[in-house]
Formats: sequence, structure tokens, C-alpha cells
Amino acid sequence: MPDKRILVTGGAGFIGSNLVHYLLGKAGEELGVTISKVVNVDLLTYAGNRSSLAKLEGDDRHVFVQCDIQDGAQIGKLLREHQINVVMHLAAESHVDRSIDSPEPFIMTNMVGTFQMLEAARIYQKERVAGGQNDFRFLHVSTDEVFGSLGPDDPGFSETTPYAPNSPYSASKAGSDHLARAYFHTFQLPLITTNCSNNYGPFQFPEKLMPLMIQKVIRGEKLPVYGDGSNVRDWLYVEDHCRGLTLSVLRGVPGETYNIGGKCEMKNIDVVLALIAAVNSERPDLNRDPQELITFVRDRPGHDRRYAIDCSKIGRELGWEPQETFETGMRKTVRWYLDNADWIEEIERKYQLQRLGDA
Ligand code: NAD
Ligand code: DAU
Repeated sequence: MPDKRILVTGGAGFIGSNLVHYLLGKAGEELGVTISKVVNVDLLTYAGNRSSLAKLEGDDRHVFVQCDIQDGAQIGKLLREHQINVVMHLAAESHVDRSIDSPEPFIMTNMVGTFQMLEAARIYQKERVAGGQNDFRFLHVSTDEVFGSLGPDDPGFSETTPYAPNSPYSASKAGSDHLARAYFHTFQLPLITTNCSNNYGPFQFPEKLMPLMIQKVIRGEKLPVYGDGSNVRDWLYVEDHCRGLTLSVLRGVPGETYNIGGKCEMKNIDVVLALIAAVNSERPDLNRDPQELITFVRDRPGHDRRYAIDCSKIGRELGWEPQETFETGMRKTVRWYLDNADWIEEIERKYQLQRLGDA
């Protein structure tokens, strides 16, 4: 297999930073691929953190570029300059609650930004084909939220489930998925889309359920569970997702979509109880009482009831399976946040400063 020169967007975010570590770490051995360069393009919004990439300092295979994906000319320049043959597009506004408070950045980054990425890739790919190079691939990373909400007995989302997005976030991702599909069908851009369930693991911004709750349990703060806590999500350890993304772009069939999931449906309240138990077992001195900490708060508007994912296609066709169970992945995650308090504290300081600057 020829060398891969990969451009990752959103590589200072949660999944993106884990992906860059995976590509420059385990991917070579696990997937038998040689990756000679990872160009990491990220705007460094509130969700992007250079400190998540600190371990890569001095690794000259990693090039970080602060850039907005809406700047198609700059993206095109980077593709040419680094002779990229794989794009893994993750940059997005990703938090549902923020999309309810302020939808515009979601439309701009997720839809307009993805359009600019696709357009830059289309022009670049045309030049490569004219030069006799046929190895270009574009991975568009999306979410299971585009499929809407399931009833308690419905089967999980499959690759053929009709789209029914319910939040500005999921609608903006659905829009970007449709653009990606159109670029394959109309322009033959060799493009693969993945739709994944809820990720958890290291380097996740502490606004999402798992890191938020872990942090609050450690500090003995109230845990705000939306509604009655019985909404259901499927949970996937982030490194399993990164392996699935890499397999999909390297071995998947252009024009196809692959669902990726953790085979682990859980009610939110059960996730929160499991996190409290895990923190208590790692730090018995804290001895947190769930009854005291859990507080049911006003529900998220339009809160999707249940997500579940049928990921049999990627298992059958690409040999992917999650390696972590909820118990093993969640334990690792709790341990990581306990051991990396400085990562969270730095983010909180930076975020506080940004907010003061905005005011
Ligand atoms: P994240 O919010 O942690 O990170 C997003 C990154 O994108 C940040 O580093 C941010 O700085 C960057 N970014 C935002 N706007 C940008 C712009 N205009 N130009 C360049 N960079 C920009 O998100 P995440 O949770 O890591 O999600 C990554 C991708 O995976 C997203 O496309 C998301 O929709 C998808 N996804 C996430 C999950 C999940 O559970 N987190 C599940 C399925 C799919
Ligand atoms: O399903 C994939 C999606 O998972 C991704 O596309 C999104 O980018 C990612 O943010 C995630 O979306 P969710 O809305 O499911 O994740 P979040 O962590 O915000 O919430 C998970 C569940 O927990 C959800 O049902 C809402 C609930 N929740 C969340 C928070 C932050 C609470 O009960 N309390 C909270 O404080």
C-alpha cells in the first residue's frame, strides 16, 4: 500500500485529536498502513485545543495549521502543497445544546464549511486524475443523529434509514451528508461517509455528558440530568471510532456509507450512575452519594428519545468491531480524567477568558 498523506480537519477537537494520535501511533501496526504525514487543519474554536496534541511535539510527520474550513482557497493550497491523498473531514460545531441557543455557526461550519472542503477536494482530485493519480479518498464524518429518534422497540438505524434530523445540529450535519453524497454522484469524488453514535474517552470538551458528569462527581457538584434521564444513547469508545474511520477511508468503497456504533445502548441515568460508581471505586475517599448529587432538570427542547445503531455492515464488509465494552472504556475514561485534571483546568481557564472577552 503506498504512503498515506492525510489531511484531518478538526484535529484539535475531541475525536480529531484522538484520530491524529491513532494515525501516527497504532494505525500503522493495526492496519498495515504507512502514514508519512498528517496535516491537521483546525480553527481552534472553544472546542479545539493544542494541548490535546502536546505529545506530538517534535514529530515532524504532524503539521498543524490554524485555518477555517470555510476558506476553500487555503484548503486547496494545503492539499497541493502536501500532496494529500486522503482527507478525513471531522471539523464541525458538534454540541446540540449550543445549536439550540445559537444555530448560525452550525450552518456556517457544518454546511458551508463542508461545501468548501468538497469543492476544494473536487478541483484537486481532477488535477490528480489528469496527472494519472487515482488514489485520492475523502472521508466525511457524520453522526447517527441525522436519522432522528427511535421508539423503544424500533430496530437500530441502518445505512438505509431515511434522514429525519430534529435539532439545528443534526439538520446541519444532514445537510452536509447530502452535499457529500452529491459530490460522489455528480463529480465522482471518491467519497465515503460514516455515521457514528456517542463517543467518549480522553480529550472530550467538558460540556458533553460523560466528561461533564465525571468532573462534577469529582468536585461533588450537582449532576444535571435532562428530563427523567431515560433517553437512550449508544456509547462508543473513541479509539474504536478512530479505527473504524481509518478502515472506512482506506478499505471502504467510494459512494458507500458505514454506520459505526458501540453495541451499547444505555439510559442516561444509568450512564451517570455507572460514572459515580467508577469514580467512587477509583477514589474511595470521595464516596459520592448518587441521591445527593443527581438532579433532574428541564429537558432539552426537542430532545431525541432514543438512538441505536445497526453497525453490522462495517463488521461484515470491513471487519470492524468495537474492542472496548462500556465497562472497560468507561473505566479507562474515568481514570484518564482523574489523571489529567490539568487538561480540564487549562480548558476551563481558557474558556473563561474567551467568555470574558466576548462580553
Ligand atoms: P469537537 O467539537 O470536539 O471538535 C470539533 C473541532 O472542529 C474543534 O477542534 C474545532 O476547533 C474545529 N472547528 C470548528 N469549526 C471549525 C472551522 N470552521 N474550521 C476548522 N475547524 C473548525 O467535535 P467532536 O466531538 O470531536 O466531533 C468531530 C466530528 O465527529 C464532528 O463532525 C461530529 O459531528 C462528528 N461526530 C461526533 C460524535 C461525538 O459523539 N462526539 C459522534 C458522531 C459524529
Ligand atoms: O449521537 C452522536 C452525537 O452524540 C454527536 O453527533 C454529537 O456531536 C455529540 O455531542 C453527541 O450528542 P448528544 O446530544 O447525544 O450528546 P450530549 O453529551 O450532549 O448528551 C448525551 C445525552 O445526555 C443526551 O440525551 C442529553 C443528556 N444530557 C446531556 C448533558 C450535557 C444530560 O442529561 N445532561 C447534560 O448536562
